[in-house]
This record gives sequence, structure tokens and C-alpha cells, in this order.
Amino acid sequence: MKTGTKCIHIGQTPEEISGAVIPPVFQTSTFAQKNPGVPYGEYEYTRAGNPNFSRLEETLAALENGKYARVFSSGLAALTAWLSTIGKCHIVTNEDLYGGTYRLLNAVFANYDVQNSRVRSADARAWEKAVRSETRWFLVETPTNPMLNIVDLASVCGIAHSRGIKVIVDNTFASPCFQQPLNLGADVVIHSTTKYLNGHSDVIGGALITNDESLKERFDFFRKALGLNPSPFDCWLISRGVKTLALRMAWHEKNALAIADSLKGASAIKEVMYPGLKSHPQFKLASKQMSGFGGIVAVRFDSGKSATKFMKKLKLFCLAESLGGVESLVSQPSTMTHASIPRAVRSNLGIDDSLVRLSVGIEDTDDLLSDVSSALKAI
Ligand SMILES: Cc1ncc(COP(=O)(O)O)c(C=O)c1O
Repeated sequence: MKTGTKCIHIGQTPEEISGAVIPPVFQTSTFAQKNPGVPYGEYEYTRAGNPNFSRLEETLAALENGKYARVFSSGLAALTAWLSTIGKCHIVTNEDLYGGTYRLLNAVFANYDVQNSRVRSADARAWEKAVRSETRWFLVETPTNPMLNIVDLASVCGIAHSRGIKVIVDNTFASPCFQQPLNLGADVVIHSTTKYLNGHSDVIGGALITNDESLKERFDFFRKALGLNPSPFDCWLISRGVKTLALRMAWHEKNALAIADSLKGASAIKEVMYPGLKSHPQFKLASKQMSGFGGIVAVRFDSGKSATKFMKKLKLFCLAESLGGVESLVSQPSTMTHASIPRAVRSNLGIDDSLVRLSVGIEDTDDLLSDVSSALKAI
């Protein structure tokens, strides 16, 4: 079965008792038991599980070509569950990462003995060089947020496995429509389902997907023990959103490519970053490991002032954090999504006030193009 069909049919079957084509929201905190400690079915208490979780988990596992998925209250909750399983160790990760992930690693889990080394995303050998005797995991984001660097997943997974190291890949930007890291050797995939999977900017959610049963059981344990569960209604909304994922991703990509193309060569712009542009330094690698390039475009202006003017002149792109919704959004990573990264670290990565990130939505292409072109003229 192909992705577009999985989105609509896996985990989306009619409800067993009434035949409701759209399953209900099991908005309950607890489940009746036949005898003390003997539940009627597989559920006892929603912190540990709920039918709306299970349905969404079935869909997400199928989309990532994995056996098991577990859903959480946010992408960071999913990362927290994973980090809770790994104990005292060292991990290697990208130097350019979503700001909240950076903060979780360095301001929270570093205090619980999970140390990290950060390496250049595009340099597969740098991952190898950063390995220490106590390294247990690679945490890989690709494409990266916000610089859209690509990590060579097959090479990096090969390096990790040859040394007994496991790999978790943040697949939020590409979505399972365009990239399936488990097929390329990853052990776990993490998603912020807040983004493309839900697609309508009305839920915060996260997920972990794996083929490894013992990892799945530890994710279960930490979801229950730390209270990282989502709400049944949020899972119901994500299950609804996922149905149109394949359609939306195709449209996000078409619009993003058109916008990226239109921005090239504008006098106030120094660089347009989009993995689907032939000018992207890793275009070949992106074409090999992804089946599409996604909907995020990063733009470097000649100054922070030009960037701010551009953002303020846009009419259809809403100035807001987040990405992956049907509506176009614009953000300045240095003051918004990546503000939690110390300024010196950010500047080193090129995340300064001249950088703008566009989450290109699925509006009519011509309307988006004319919005961008008017904003550019106004600079
Ligand atoms: C790549 C990536 N991973 C993880 C997260 C965290 O997800 P959430 O906001 O759902 O906690 C984000 C949020 O923007 C993200 O962009």
C-alpha cells in the first residue's frame, strides 16, 4: 500500500460497536475493570493508553514503515521519553538543531548526565570523529531547522551501527511522505506531530516510531511514569489531519519550490536555502534520500533591517512560530524559534537577524508569489 492510501486507511477503520466511519473521541481518563486489576480490554488509564492513541499509532507506524509508534503530548515530550531511556551516556548530534531540542539537551538532560557533542550536519565523517567510548546514540535532524542542511542518513547510520551506537532521526521537516529514516537504517524516528502530520496548526503533539520492541516498551514506561501522554481529542485531530498528508505535502513542495525560485537573485537577498534547488550544496544527496524536498525555505537577507521589513510587509504569510500548517508562516529564528540558543552559538551557525524562515503553505501559488514579490519591492 502506498503512502496516500495508508494515510486514509491504516488506523482509520470504522469503530467496531456502532460502525461509525469516523471513530469517536474516547474522552475518558479511566476504563472500567471486570475485577480488581483485570480491565475489560487493553486500557486502564489514559496516561498509559487510550483507543485514540492506538489508532494514531497504527497510522504513524505504517507511514514510517515501522512496527511500533507511541504518541506524546509534544515533540519535546517524545524526545524527553527517548532521552529518559538512554541513561548516563554521551550522544552526538547536529550543530544546527531546533532551538527547543538544543535547550532540552543542554539545559535539562546535561544535568542528568546525558552529555552531547555537536557536529557539522553535512560532514558524515565528523559524526564518526565525535564518537567516544561512552557514546550510545546519534540524534540526527535532517533537513535541519532552520538551515536546511542534509545529513547523509545511510552513511551516518552505517558509522553508528559499526560501533554499536543507535540512531534516532527527527523527521519532522520531511514528513514520512518524503523521507523514511527507518528504511535508511535509523533505529527510531521522532516527530513533532504539531507540524506536517497534523497540518492544521491546532494541536501540539509528538511521536516515536521504531521496530525495536524493547525500546517501544521503555517509551511506554516513560510516557506513563513521566505523564508525557497527549489528550485523546488531540490524537483524534491528528488522525483527521493525517488523512490529507500526501496531498498537502505535494502542494507544500510545489509552492516552496516556486517561492525559492522566485527569491533567487533578488537584490536584498544573499542566499536562498531550499534542498530542492540545484544550487543547494547537498541537492544530490537530498534527491537520493528524500522523495520530495518539503515546504520550508530559509532566506538570508543583506541585513537584519531588510529581513524585518520583508516580514512586516508580507500579507498572506503570518508572522508566527511553528511550521507545517496549511497556512503560510514566516519567522525570524534568531528572535523566535532559536532564541534559546546562546547568541554566540547561534551566530556561529549563521542564525542571526538577517535569516528568515518561511513555512510555505498550500494557498494558491500565484497569490503567495505576488505576496512575496510585493514585500520584496517594499524593502
Ligand atoms: C524539527 C523539530 N523537532 C522537534 C520540535 C519540537 O516539537 P514540539 O513543538 O511539538 O514540542 C520542533 C518544533 O518546532 C521542530 O521544529
